[in-house]
Amino acid sequence: MEERKGRKKKVLLMGKSGSGKSSMRSIVFSNYVAKDTRRLGATIDVEHSHVRFLGNLTLNLWDCGGQDAFMENYLATQRDHIFRNVEVLIYVFDIESREFDRDLITYSSCIEALRDNSSNARIFCLIHKMDLVQTELRERLFNERRDVLVSRSLGLAITCFQTSIWDETLYKAWAGIVYTLIPNLPQLETHLHRFASIADAEEVILFERTTFLVISHVTRAPTPNPYPDRFEKISNIVKQFKQSCSKMASNFTAFELRAAGFSAFIDVLTPNTYILVVMPAGAAESATTLMNIAVARKHFEKLERDSSVRGGERGGGGGAGEKGGAGEKDGIIGN
Ligand code: GTP
Ligand code: MG
Repeated sequence: MEERKGRKKKVLLMGKSGSGKSSMRSIVFSNYVAKDTRRLGATIDVEHSHVRFLGNLTLNLWDCGGQDAFMENYLATQRDHIFRNVEVLIYVFDIESREFDRDLITYSSCIEALRDNSSNARIFCLIHKMDLVQTELRERLFNERRDVLVSRSLGLAITCFQTSIWDETLYKAWAGIVYTLIPNLPQLETHLHRFASIADAEEVILFERTTFLVISHVTRAPTPNPYPDRFEKISNIVKQFKQSCSKMASNFTAFELRAAGFSAFIDVLTPNTYILVVMPAGAAESATTLMNIAVARKHFEKLERDSSVRGGERGGGGGAGEKGGAGEKDGIIGN
């Protein structure tokens, strides 16, 4: 029972027709690029997909077509079926909608149905297609919409993101959502901290292998980084690069960059993850960092296997920075 709960997570994707639900799903989980989404037709009723994420977690995505007739059906005849056992509701609002008041009425009805059937579900609202708004107006408009949504959520907690398929905001939002569903995260983070410290890295970032969403990151640089959105930017860039590689019948596996102030390495870590390691300038030979990744690989693979066997129970590793982490006995080479 606990095992099933830990592994399969029902995620409802709702919002008005044309708001961009299937577009986001196709880019994040099915290797579409943004322009491919113009070809998508309206979703008829509910499209189910099972997305394996990090091996032991399966997202059971319910992409609910948003045409009025379907919405009415979800809220009436199919109410229990749709809103039962939901872990996460993602509700998408098209920023260009001319019927925001009407959208809000439907939204509130969905929130009510969710409250009655899955009282512990997390709610995320995406204010989408923000690329269509002038850059300088985005923040203000987003804050206004968020405040209205909070007031229409029947007192339930919601998290809002502004998104667009045309930039990295898509990755920021989806990484934030998926992060809340990863079962063995504290343990994983402890080990990532340990690895960063032993390898003496400035920054270590863990990505999910197929979606390239950020799972976790550790920053040890002495000065704050001026680019807070660098993680989702990297997701976006690498994902597009991977897609270009596959068009040329080639597979992206690893990447190394040497710049004046740092070196960066992206490599496969486990069957479900990539790791990005940023080293300070002149810190180490490339071979040392690559060897450290190779040594950590065995450790993280074991961690992933163990958590699969346990079926994704929460906790088990304590908070970040605790002892007993990656590579303690595995011979990672420090600098
Ligand atoms: P239904 O299946 O009918 O509920 O619609 P949907 O919410 O799945 O919409 P869909 O993903 O099919 O997107 C509709 C249109 O919006 C497509 O032509 C997309 O290219 C476009 N679109 C999606 N996201 C964005 C975005 O962030 N910005 C812009 N400008 N267009 C977008
Ligand atoms: Mg759709």
